[in-house]
Amino acid sequence: MTRRAVAIGVGHYLPERVVPNAEFEKTLDTTDEWIKSRSGIERRHFAAPQETTSDLATHAANAALKMAGIAANDIDAIIVATSTADLTFPSAATMVQHAIGNTKGYAFDIQAVCAGFVFALSNANALIASGQADRVLVIGAETFSRIMDWTDRGTCVLFGDGAGAVILEAQDGTGTTQDRGILATDLNSDGSYRDLLYVDGGVSKQSTGVLRMEGQEVFRHAVEKLAQTAHTALDKVGLGADDVNWVVPHQANIRIIKSTARKLGVGMDRVIVTVQDHGNTSAASIPLALSVGVQSGKIKKGDIVVTEAIGGGLAWGAVVLRW
Ligand code: UT7
Repeated sequence: MTRRAVAIGVGHYLPERVVPNAEFEKTLDTTDEWIKSRSGIERRHFAAPQETTSDLATHAANAALKMAGIAANDIDAIIVATSTADLTFPSAATMVQHAIGNTKGYAFDIQAVCAGFVFALSNANALIASGQADRVLVIGAETFSRIMDWTDRGTCVLFGDGAGAVILEAQDGTGTTQDRGILATDLNSDGSYRDLLYVDGGVSKQSTGVLRMEGQEVFRHAVEKLAQTAHTALDKVGLGADDVNWVVPHQANIRIIKSTARKLGVGMDRVIVTVQDHGNTSAASIPLALSVGVQSGKIKKGDIVVTEAIGGGLAWGAVVLRW
């Protein structure tokens, strides 16, 4: 018997304020047409001034608990993937723990920027496989609007705020790819690329800082590394492109999403795309897309789902699961 980490609930939350591309035309030398054609983004949500990352995460967590039909205290561990936690400490995850009314178990944050949710899923899988938890709430939540340079048209038009959550539960499997749950993961990072995508401030620098990106270079790495990591994860369990029902990619740029799908040999009719509505929400983008994919009836129980993401670090990876 193999302990599998099976998804039993998913949910998301987007802040009320929707910002269409046209709004940037008022303050920047940009156009709706440029943003749409270069990135696929049409609008994004921005958190209200008093709304924090843990607030967004809590809404998403409650939605996932509702779908799973379980209580907050049925959760053993809470992991929040974020680069924009409310405070330097405590973790956003402990804030969510308190807000949802979980009084047992343990909570902590993971920081792997846009790849954060993939890293969090992989760690949650390890906790479940090793018997350290039976149910793990895995959240991706961000308020990237707080780290934008509003004068930099090359970055500030691309990002948005939001949160998504998935609940994983230990279930017995047979050890084959017929099992539901996480089947394979592949994680990577290379710190030599730190100058391609970073925030130019932080606690130790005594500032908050704003996001800086060499867009073209990150694009190049994304196109090369995303298909590679997805292939590696699929290979680990002997699955191929034809076995994949849905690719749920990090939503940074429609051109990256299309090119990765092409390299993977998966048609765009099997890719969940939300970038037009959410922009790039970093660690929140995959659970947001998963939640939208499930809610819309596309992703069904038993489907093979591949998630892949890349972000600052660079850090990148993929997870293969049977939904
Ligand atoms: O989530 C983490 C991973 N992040 C990513 O995956 C992002 C990866 N990068 C990208 O998605 C793309 O590189 C961008 C969307 C950021 C940029 O698209 P691009 O096709 O690579 O454009 P570019 O940076 O080569 O810029 C082309 C032109 C430049 O003008 P010149 O030098 O050709 O005169 C830019 O100054 O477009 C200009 N430009 C803009 N023009 C209008 C850059 N931003 C804008 C803008 N509006 N907002």
